[in-house]
Amino acid sequence: MASKYCVANWKMNFNGQQGKEFVSLLNSKDLNNGQSQIILCPSFTSLFSMVEASSNSAISVGAQNMHFEDSGPYTGEVSAQMLNETDVKFVILGHSERRHVFGETDDMIHAKMVQSIKSGLTPILCIGENLDERESGNTNQVLRSQLEAGLADVNGEYIIAYEPVWAIGTGKSATSEMVAETHASIRNILAELNVSENVSLLYGGSVSPQNTAELAAVENVDGFLIGGASLDVEKFYSIYSDL
Ligand code: 13P
Repeated sequence: MASKYCVANWKMNFNGQQGKEFVSLLNSKDLNNGQSQIILCPSFTSLFSMVEASSNSAISVGAQNMHFEDSGPYTGEVSAQMLNETDVKFVILGHSERRHVFGETDDMIHAKMVQSIKSGLTPILCIGENLDERESGNTNQVLRSQLEAGLADVNGEYIIAYEPVWAIGTGKSATSEMVAETHASIRNILAELNVSENVSLLYGGSVSPQNTAELAAVENVDGFLIGGASLDVEKFYSIYSDL
């Protein structure tokens, strides 16, 4: 069985103090539903303090990105080794904002996948189609090419997050029917790529306490990757409780 995850992607929000307050509030709640693992992904500058604040708790910490080289002339970048120094266990890779705003290619994301696993981190590989691609009936083709490229010769533990670009930050989540259909297609593609059915497949895109009870019941949904709603501890806890 695939493990379940409830992942917060805070994007460029929250400073270290706000992150620690969030951890403290979340830790005061019952985090023993035993169903899903919580991973909070703050900005790079908060990683050390977040790992410290969440030690000895049910909360894990992840980064939002990393570079694929060990070191070198890459101004502003952070390597997997540097992430290891903070003791994070997870890293989000290939988020649509990295792909579309910062021009990351499938090749770069693949190199990051290889490097993160080599470095002992568990990557959360994001895939997803944009509105044009969905409307022109190319969703499966896009997802297949992102998966083939991202996972080529990748051996080790990883998580996959399906995030339709048109659902991110728009308040317009995919319907449970759409998620059921797309997650089933992704599972088929993964099976063709010989990926174990134990690999967790998360949904992301306007996830909120209003839609998680329904989405959590969908087959092949092994958790959520949450943006906006993860900035509110009550909303995040409500989503976690639905898993
Ligand atoms: P929203 O939940 O704000 O739509 O963001 C989703 C996302 O991008 C998580 O990685």
